[in-house]
Amino acid sequence: MKKKKPSGTSLLYQLIGEARGYDDAIVLGRGDPDFDTPPHIVAAAKRAMVEHYQDHSPPQGLLALRQAIAERVKRVNNIDVDPETEVVVTNGGQEALFLMVLAVIAPGDEMIVPEPNYNTYADSLAFAGGIKAEVQTYAESDFRADPAAVRAAITDKTRALLLVSPNNPAASVISPADMREMLEIASEHDLMILADDIYDLFVYDDFEHISPASLPGAKERTLTLNALSKSYSMTGWRLGWIVGPADLMARVTELKAAISGGTSVISQHAGIAALTGPQDAVEMMAEAYRRRRRLVLDALDAMGVRYGMPQGGQFVFADIGFTGLDSAEVAQRMVSEQHVLAYPGSAFSKDRKDYLRMTFLQPEAQLREGLRRMKIVIDKIVAGK
Ligand SMILES: Cc1ncc(COP(=O)(O)O)c(C=O)c1O
Repeated sequence: MKKKKPSGTSLLYQLIGEARGYDDAIVLGRGDPDFDTPPHIVAAAKRAMVEHYQDHSPPQGLLALRQAIAERVKRVNNIDVDPETEVVVTNGGQEALFLMVLAVIAPGDEMIVPEPNYNTYADSLAFAGGIKAEVQTYAESDFRADPAAVRAAITDKTRALLLVSPNNPAASVISPADMREMLEIASEHDLMILADDIYDLFVYDDFEHISPASLPGAKERTLTLNALSKSYSMTGWRLGWIVGPADLMARVTELKAAISGGTSVISQHAGIAALTGPQDAVEMMAEAYRRRRRLVLDALDAMGVRYGMPQGGQFVFADIGFTGLDSAEVAQRMVSEQHVLAYPGSAFSKDRKDYLRMTFLQPEAQLREGLRRMKIVIDKIVAGK
């Protein structure tokens, strides 16, 4: 029997596997920050291993961390929450995402999802028995989720609207005006808003990020997730949160208790240090991403690659359709010929075969070298070789 060509996520894993086999591989697609976790956070975790390992954490998390989260979402996002009843600490953004979807979506409910989007939303919806109502976004308009298209996607089954700003993989953002309109739509149709703020500290070109829950009248219908993975380079620590109105958070707490119980107390103590300690590492990382973004965009411009301008996040969703090959083939040739890996768009959305997801999560020298090698492959393809 002829072997089926891998596609989507299985293709991605195959490419990652092949890249691992090369000593000089450069991964331009990775999604986790390349920086070390700041040392004062690591020190707090070490202390917690000795002093707090027997602490008991309630399912919703240690109160001291919930207080630090409440202060953070007030300071950064202008969201008011009661740390006693309106904050749940989670195992990273991933668990937060699942809990949010499971808390709101019942079988048969539709959730509006601007596409392309982080693909775990599709997985969590499938587990909840929900239906993804896709609203497509396009590079020409910087992958803007058009409120008119959202309105048009509403049916009598629509229960929730997903707003991820800045977004992964397209790095689109939702402007303050659009965010207000999204809230109006949600209020008119009595929809829940699921907000994912995980990239909120990484915005560019004077873009102003507004969390939907901070808008008047929004809090009661909004659950907001965030995590320390991106902002403090703590992917492996598995620490995130959801904030929202007390009635819904009671449901989230019930689910959290049933699924995994309290999050690791070692990580929670690290999280307290992250949120209440010095913030200069966060600013240093944000500044590095700003420089690297410029470097990547300049290199793509030199290759003739189009993209939606990333005004936030750590990605660029690059349109390589002009090469005449789809991104699976381009990504395959990049890995095999030049040992450089970018993620094919089809791993994020079946309709995005012309795109590659590239990220800024490599030191500048690595990025430069990876982009130099990518250009060799693109130039060869365009020259018909
Ligand atoms: C938009 C978005 N939400 C949630 C997550 C999950 O984050 P975590 O790594 O904290 O599980 C990611 C991870 O890449 C993401 O891009």
